[in-house]
Amino acid sequence: MSFDENIPGWLTLDEVQPLKNICSLVPKNSNVIEVGVFAGRGTLLLSEELPNSKIYSIDPWIDYTKLENVLNTTVGRRFRPTDVQKIFQTEVLPLCNNVTAIQGMFPENLNVKDNIGMIYFDTWGNDRDYNLYSAAWDLLINNGILCGRSFSSWGENVIKSVRKISRDKNVPIQLPPSTSLWYMIKK
Ligand SMILES: C[S@@+](CC[C@H](N)C(=O)[O-])C[C@H]1O[C@@H](n2cnc3c(N)ncnc32)[C@H](O)[C@@H]1O
Repeated sequence: MSFDENIPGWLTLDEVQPLKNICSLVPKNSNVIEVGVFAGRGTLLLSEELPNSKIYSIDPWIDYTKLENVLNTTVGRRFRPTDVQKIFQTEVLPLCNNVTAIQGMFPENLNVKDNIGMIYFDTWGNDRDYNLYSAAWDLLINNGILCGRSFSSWGENVIKSVRKISRDKNVPIQLPPSTSLWYMIKK
């Protein structure tokens, strides 16, 4: 099952098919990086859609206790913020045999550099976004996809940074309708 609302998270049902469409553009047999895993709602989808790719899913899995109120109103089922990583490890990772979990921050804690065909960002945007996308762009192979969520009213920094990358690299931004998804293809 590539979408499970019972896994706490942010990916919405409306974004499932558009994200699958983006996955279909990933160069064959290339490696994929997922930045911002949380409990792995997105990981399930990437794993199922890209069975021939190795997926490296990176997150520091910080202590989410301070976000408790936000979490329980925005992400579905009730859970303890301290259990996010445990939910990922026990309910998601066993279903994803092509996923390697990396605990840390992108880009500094990622040492996978070869044959990267897609980097998917689902972080909480901040003013580091541009630097993250820029580092990701350099890692991608030709025809690789830089993509993510939060190109939306709540993602002011994401929008600013995606637009800047688009201008710098002279590539168009693709925005699947009625979603917060965005992507660009490296040419
Ligand atoms: C919106 S949640 C991810 C939601 C998840 N992808 C889903 O489908 O529900 C954002 C996550 O990004 C992580 N994060 C933020 N900055 C990061 C970075 N630079 N590298 C890796 N993870 C990061 C946070 O720890 C948090 O778990």
